[in-house]
Amino acid sequence: METQALHLLKVEGKEERTGYIAVASGKGGVGKTLISINTGRIISRNGKKALIIDGDLGLSNVHIMLGITPAKNLYHFFMGEASLEDIVVPIEDGLAFISSGSGVKELVNMPPTQLRNFIYRLQEYAEKNYHWVIFDTPPGIHSDTTALVSSSNIPLIVTTPEPTAIADAYGLIKVLNREEKVKEFYLLVNKVQSYEEGMKVFESIRVVCEKFTSADVKYLGSVRFIPKMIRNIVNQNPFEESFIKDLTNALSKLPLDIKPHPHSFWERLLSKIRRGP
Ligand SMILES: Nc1ncnc2c1ncn2[C@@H]1O[C@H](COP(=O)(O)OP(=O)(O)OP(=O)(O)O)[C@@H](O)[C@H]1O
Ligand SMILES: [Mg+2]
Repeated sequence: METQALHLLKVEGKEERTGYIAVASGKGGVGKTLISINTGRIISRNGKKALIIDGDLGLSNVHIMLGITPAKNLYHFFMGEASLEDIVVPIEDGLAFISSGSGVKELVNMPPTQLRNFIYRLQEYAEKNYHWVIFDTPPGIHSDTTALVSSSNIPLIVTTPEPTAIADAYGLIKVLNREEKVKEFYLLVNKVQSYEEGMKVFESIRVVCEKFTSADVKYLGSVRFIPKMIRNIVNQNPFEESFIKDLTNALSKLPLDIKPHPHSFWERLLSKIRRGP
C-alpha cells in the first residue's frame, strides 16, 4: 500500500525538504520504537530514504529490536571520535539508523561554537541523504524529549487504550503546548482491540485538550494489538505486515503540506538544548 503523505515534505505546496518526525509518549511501553522502525520501512517502501535516530538517551532499544549492536554512536561523533559515516547503520535499502548513546546529554556542557559545528554537520548529512528523519524518543516530559518533539515537523504522540497511558499522553501534550507552544499534534492509538476503541481514546483526549489547552490534536488512527508481536520481538524481527498495514493507513492521514517553520529543525533544537532544562 502506498502512502502519498510520506512521499515528501512539501512546504506550502512547493519547496521540498527533509521532514522530521518525533515519536513520543507520556507512558513507556506503548510502542514508540516499533512505530519508529515500521514507519521507516513504510517510507523506504515508498521509494524514499529514512533515517531513524534513537533519541532514547542511554536507554536505546532500536538496536535491540533490530538485533544490531552499533560500535559507535552519536556520543562518539560529538566527542570527535567517529565520523557520521562511521555511526550510520544501514538496516535495508533506503533505511538506516543512528544510535544516540548518551550523546545528547553531553551537549549542554559543550562550548557553543563546537556544538553548533557538530549540529550543522549532522544537519547537512541528514538533509543531503534522507527525505525523513524519525526520532524515537524516551517516554515522559524530559527536556531533551520536549526539545526534540517541539522542533519536529510532525509531533507523533502514541498512546494505548490504557487509562494511565491516555492520562500521560494528555500530560505530554499539555506540557508541549504550554511550555513549548506546540499547537498541532498527531495522535496514534496503539494496541487497540478495535478501530472503534482507538476512536474513543482519541475523543477522550480531544475533549480535554479542547477544554484545557490550545492544542489541536489530529487523529491519525490506530494499530491493532497483534498477539504474535511479542514473539517477533524476541526473534529480533520488528517488521510485521499487519502492523505495517494499520500504520500505513494512519500515516496516510498526515498532511501533504505543512506550514514552514521560520527556522530549521536543527536550529530550533540547538536553541532549546542551549536553553537547558
Ligand atoms: N500493536 C502491538 N501489538 C502487540 N504488541 C505490541 C504492539 N505494539 C507494541 N507492542 C509490544 O509492546 C512492547 C513495547 O513496545 P516498544 O518497545 O515499541 O514501546 P516503547 O514505547 O518504545 O517503549 P519505551 O517507552 O520503553 O521506549 C513490545 O514488547 C512490543 O512487542
Ligand atoms: Mg522505545
